[in-house]
Amino acid sequence: MKNHFRHDVLVIGSGAAGLTLALNLSSIGKVAVISKDRLKDGSTWYAQGGIAAVLDNKDSTDAHVTDTLNAGAGLCHEDAVRFTVENSTAAIEWLVEQGVAFTRNATDQEFHLTKEGGHTHRRIIHSADATGKAVHSTLIDKVRNTSNIEIFEKHIAVDLIQQADSNNPRLRCSGAYIYNREEDRVCTFSAKVVILATGGASKVYLYTSNPDGASGDGIAMAWRAGCRVANMEFNQFHPTCLYHPKAKTLLITEALRGEGAYLTLPNGERFMHRFDERGELAPRDIVARAIDHEMKRLGCDHLYLDISHREDDFINEHFPNVKKQCLQFGIDITKEPIPIVPAAHYTCGGIVVDKHGLTDLQNLYAIGESSFTGLHGANRMASNSLLECIVYARSAAQHIRQQLSSINEATEITTWDESKVTNSDEDVVISHNWDELRRFMWDYVGIVRTKKRLERAEHRVKLLQKEIAEYYSNYKISNDLVELRNLVMVAQLIIRSALERKESRGLHYSLDYPDLGKITRDTMLVPTNFAAQNVIVDHQ
Ligand code: FAD
Ligand code: SIN
Repeated sequence: MKNHFRHDVLVIGSGAAGLTLALNLSSIGKVAVISKDRLKDGSTWYAQGGIAAVLDNKDSTDAHVTDTLNAGAGLCHEDAVRFTVENSTAAIEWLVEQGVAFTRNATDQEFHLTKEGGHTHRRIIHSADATGKAVHSTLIDKVRNTSNIEIFEKHIAVDLIQQADSNNPRLRCSGAYIYNREEDRVCTFSAKVVILATGGASKVYLYTSNPDGASGDGIAMAWRAGCRVANMEFNQFHPTCLYHPKAKTLLITEALRGEGAYLTLPNGERFMHRFDERGELAPRDIVARAIDHEMKRLGCDHLYLDISHREDDFINEHFPNVKKQCLQFGIDITKEPIPIVPAAHYTCGGIVVDKHGLTDLQNLYAIGESSFTGLHGANRMASNSLLECIVYARSAAQHIRQQLSSINEATEITTWDESKVTNSDEDVVISHNWDELRRFMWDYVGIVRTKKRLERAEHRVKLLQKEIAEYYSNYKISNDLVELRNLVMVAQLIIRSALERKESRGLHYSLDYPDLGKITRDTMLVPTNFAAQNVIVDHQ
């Protein structure tokens, strides 16, 4: 059975970021796309609201940049914001060229642009309320029909392969060990360049809007391979997920608020104006914290989002999927308010990269939600995420195109060694630790934090890490074990970063340090095996 696969480009992850990159490189080499489940199983598919971009002549690059900087609470890197926004129109044009059908106005056939929190202009291009599906299904079709792209579904990357390079003091990445879930075996995938496009880590929390695979695999793999990660304390909680005992994860798009929906208390009273003059359209950190505050003050387990005052036709046209999905739980959004709670939604921090997505490890790139570009600062503005995926995937592709011919194929790669492990007879350890981790992260490292709670979480995470490391070294791997190992690693990085930040800023709110600090700085974590040791790091 073939055990070693060789490609020019190895893309780990099949969301908007990974597929955009694969499509932009297929003309210059053999590309492998690795996806731990089916191609569509990532956050991209579920995106609702849309993609922020400068598309209207009343809008401007400066306005989009300013709104992003304001939402980011002083921590965005202005150069990254400007770079992203300046490339936003071209990113949308590329998606339109691929065939994505965005919603147009019935009157003039121009793109319909909606509004979300923090935006001072209508600038969110969308496909009704299922933008992710429209974008992702188009890219998936393209990738499936591109001859130079080989797809490996149900394959999960376990760890990166790194090697010394005689021509460069920096270590190089030469591939990854990939577990084939269907054949229950680990294979070696070598490539000239490797791209982590593995999405975020919101599954570390008990309640999340994210699909199951959001376990921060790429962030954990990069960290283990000696790459820096930054700003992991900034977990974004989306203010409005459906509260229903039978609903696992159902986001109610912020575009509802953009189109006039109110947030209300159980007695029907609006409350957001007490917290921010922008009311329901304040940035997400403010809205989620206000909801959390009101829920705790009133002792209730949810609040409400109400769009029933808008005309039925308008709701049916703009929010057909939210309407349909809520109806499945007996809620008619045209007639009644929707019960909502905040849930973990987006990982603002990640693997440190430059504007080409290049990490600290030679030939390793990171793009999309797994990366830290400096765009989001302490709080991501709505709909800037898909934009970041497309802009940075295209930028990384351009950089790789210039480098590929000068990169030698790696030789002497050590194969995966399973000689010392056996089959596990105690899978309950995995499910128990998985539940425990996600619950204490929710209780101790959530929307409002204290030093004491963070220290409690830190103590528990260390115990779990020890137990999982022991389990990992004794038993054969499985998908769940790989994810748990990564999730616990990411939890540790989040807690450590949260403890380091002695102020409240954006998404990180601490009762012990309720004020904004005087100095603005990223929380940069450097691994002990830093891949760029003795090298002047020329970015971030
Ligand atoms: P993903 O789309 O999450 O894809 C990650 C991929 O990596 C998946 O294919 C996964 O299987 C694969 N993978 C992960 N680990 C491994 C591994 N170890 N081995 C192999 N494969 C692996 N953003 C916006 O800008 N606008 C919106 O309207 C919007 N709405 C959202 C609504 C919801 C419900 C959610 C959850 C998110 C939303 N977001 C939105 C955020 C946005 O969708 C994500 O940030 C973005 O899609 C991330 O894309 P990605 O390509 O980085 O990762
Ligand atoms: C939403 O539609 O509310 C999600 C938008 C985003 O996460 O950017």
